This record gives sequence, structure tokens and C-alpha cells, in this order.
Amino acid sequence: MGARDQGLGSESRVTAALRSAAVVPSGAASSCPMSRRAAATVLRAWCIEDLRLLAKKRLPRAVFEFFDGGAEDETTLRDNRAAFERVRLAPKMLAGVSQIDTVASVLGASSKLPIAVGPTGGVGFGWPFADVGIARAAAAAGIPYTLSTMATASIERIAREAGGRLWFQAYIFKKRDITMQLIERARQLGYDALMVTVDVPVGGKRERDFRNHYTIPFRFTRRNLLDFASRPGWALSILRRGMPVLENVASFAPEATNAAEIASSVGRFWDPGFDWDGMKEMRERWPGKMLVKGILRADDAERLAGLGVDAVVVSNHGGRQLDGAVAALDALPPIVRAVKGRMSVLVDGGVRRGVDVVKAIALGAEGVMIGRATLYGACAAGEAGAARALEILRDEFVRSMQLSGVRTVREIGADLLAGAGSAASGGA
Ligand SMILES: Cc1cc2nc3c(=O)[nH]c(=O)nc-3n(C[C@H](O)[C@H](O)[C@H](O)COP(=O)(O)O)c2cc1C
Repeated sequence: MGARDQGLGSESRVTAALRSAAVVPSGAASSCPMSRRAAATVLRAWCIEDLRLLAKKRLPRAVFEFFDGGAEDETTLRDNRAAFERVRLAPKMLAGVSQIDTVASVLGASSKLPIAVGPTGGVGFGWPFADVGIARAAAAAGIPYTLSTMATASIERIAREAGGRLWFQAYIFKKRDITMQLIERARQLGYDALMVTVDVPVGGKRERDFRNHYTIPFRFTRRNLLDFASRPGWALSILRRGMPVLENVASFAPEATNAAEIASSVGRFWDPGFDWDGMKEMRERWPGKMLVKGILRADDAERLAGLGVDAVVVSNHGGRQLDGAVAALDALPPIVRAVKGRMSVLVDGGVRRGVDVVKAIALGAEGVMIGRATLYGACAAGEAGAARALEILRDEFVRSMQLSGVRTVREIGADLLAGAGSAASGGA
């Protein structure tokens, strides 16, 4: 069976997806500009790595490496990917897999895929209003989208232009009032869940940003000027639209609203003193569903379940915080064992293939979140690129389910793991 048989290679299907993306928010105009040429180019991307290479080609090195890189020696960044590659499946044959249902329950509501788009800050530097493009692509794909506090599109803009199921990600500002005001705006606009990120008490040491002169305050130096000038298409888009603005925090932190500044300022505004008492207070003040992102230990997850938190995202921030932290996928099983039935468990970090979603669910996750996958797509072609990333993951997920012999997401279980189940390994 070729890619075309499942629609991945079909231009008309992608065009239809884009058309439907455009109508999702009841005809609202998108701030994310469209480029027909770039949209045509991403149709030649067959995997997330292809989209990554397209993004690399289009972006100045400093910008690409801000998105692509991790902390210090990047051991955790690499291990996130390696952890997925270490897992082997024992597929079932003769399962009758002509009909596949990818619908899953994610945080208590139906999602067309067991995938949610995670929060990524500063993405407008990769493509103007990429946040909007990614959010609209997520809505078209029928999956949740999480808006970062450090997004280059405001809470209001996303609510107006994206549609779909929206979650808001909060960092805890030293001035707690700022966080509370942002959360209140999200609540009033109908965001259906709050995600509190707890793995950035201080910023990780991201040395690529230092080397690339991606610094605060943003200054053009001879090196980064040459770098930026080497990508005229990108430079033109910035000149036309102006420097991206961190719209959610623009009025609170005027000294750092330029997207380029967050590279080395990451963590500067957050409260390293935020602790369990603060978390308890957050839980009490947010009436809706709450996820806590950045958990790698079973005891932390258990304590959050005790506070009435609805979900944890097992995550090391895509390898951007503590270098040397455990790969997210490796941290997943003990956390699932500790809180199963009491809260949802999602995992992120290194998801690049549809089969990774099967692996994460087989290891006990309710679903995965993705960061760079849609970000690479958006950097290559705005909304069309993000839609392509989701189309690729969807196609690979369906194909992997068929090849694994499972017809529904519920059928994906630990028995698919090679060597894990007695039936698969032939044991008693
Ligand atoms: C460029 C970039 C910006 C990010 N910004 C945020 C953020 O603002 N808030 C947050 O909680 N996580 C942030 N993350 C982490 C992601 O939400 C997610 O945990 C990570 O990207 C998952 O790994 P993956 O990129 O391999 O999928 C960011 C990640 C990247 C790559």
C-alpha cells in the first residue's frame, strides 16, 4: 500500500484540509499569512524530519537553533528521541484492520487523535503569527491546542481566529498578579483547560543561543546580521510584518516583549520560589480542568492527584531545561502505575512519528503532546506547514495501528510491547 492509498500524497486531500482549516473559526480571518509557494513545497515533505529540514533552510541559524536546540550538551534532548527508538512492538496479525478509529478521550473529552499541540513560545519569529496557523491546523485536525504565555499571539487573538479546543499554558510570574490576570482572561474567553508549567523555576542553559548572539537586549551584531541577511525570504517577512511581539505579556513586561529576547531571558520573569502551597492555591482558583506540565517523578504526580489536578504532562520541556534529566518516555511507566485511574497522563518530548503515539499509549499514556513537530511545519509554511505536520502524524498513526493489528485507540495496550506480554512472547 502506497502513501497515496491513505491520502498522504494526495494534493486534493491536503488542499481540502487547508480549506477546512480556513473555515474552522467560522470564517474569521487569520493573522498568519499564507504563501502558495511554501504550501506547495510542504506537500513534498513525507515525514517530520523533512519539515525540519525545510524550516532549517528557510530560517536564519539563530532562529532555527532556538527552536531546534536544547540545554547544555543536549543529552536529554537526544535521549527523548532515543527512548522512542528503543521501544519495540510485537504486532498482531490477521486482526481485520480495514476500518481504523483514531478517536480518543483526552482530558475527559473526545479528540480525533490522541495528540494535543503543546505550548511553544516565540514562534512568530519563525513565521508571522505561526501561533494562529498552528492553532487553526489543530482545530481542523480536531485536537486540542495549547497557547503559551510567551506566544506571539494573544489569548484573545487565538480565541477569535482559531476555534477548536483551546488550553492555556501559564508560567508563574514573580508578580503573581500577572499570572492571575492572564488566567482570568483565558477563563472568560472559554479556554477549557489550564496547563501550569512547573519545570522552569529558572531557565535552562541553552548555549546555542549564546553562541548565535540571540541575546538580550536584542542587538544586531556583525555575526547575526549576516545570518539574518542570508535568509532574504525570512528577513522580508519580518520587515513586512515587524518584529513579533509577545502579545500576552506585552503590557506587563515591556522590556522583554520582543520575541528574540526570550532566548536568553527564559526564566527571568518566573518565580523560582513557586512551591506546593502555590500549586494548591492555583488549583483552588482555576475552576476548570487543570494539567501540570513538566513532571518526571511518580511521587510528584501522586501529590498532584491529591490536590485534585486532572492531568500531568510527563515532560522535560523537550530537553531545554535540566540536561541530564530522564527521557520523558522512560519516566512515563512509573508515573502511570502511581496515578492510574486518578488522573490523565500525557507525555511529550521527541514525538516525530505516528508510531511514537502507539508506543506512548502502549506504555500507559492517554495521549501525547507535540512541540517541535508542528513548529517545524509552521516555520516551513505557516498554517499549511502545521497542517502538513498533523496530516503526516495522522497518516503514520493510522498506518501503525493497522500494521500493529489494532482498530481502535482502546485496543492499544501493553501487550503490544515486545517481550512485555505473555501472549506476545509466547510464555505461559
Ligand atoms: C521553541 C520552543 C518553545 C517552547 N516554549 C514553551 C513554553 O512557552 N511553555 C511550555 O510550557 N513549554 C514550552 N516548550 C516545551 C514544549 O511545550 C514541549 O514540552 C516540547 O517541545 C516537547 O518536545 P518536542 O519538541 O520534542 O515535541 C517549548 C519548546 C520549544 C521547542
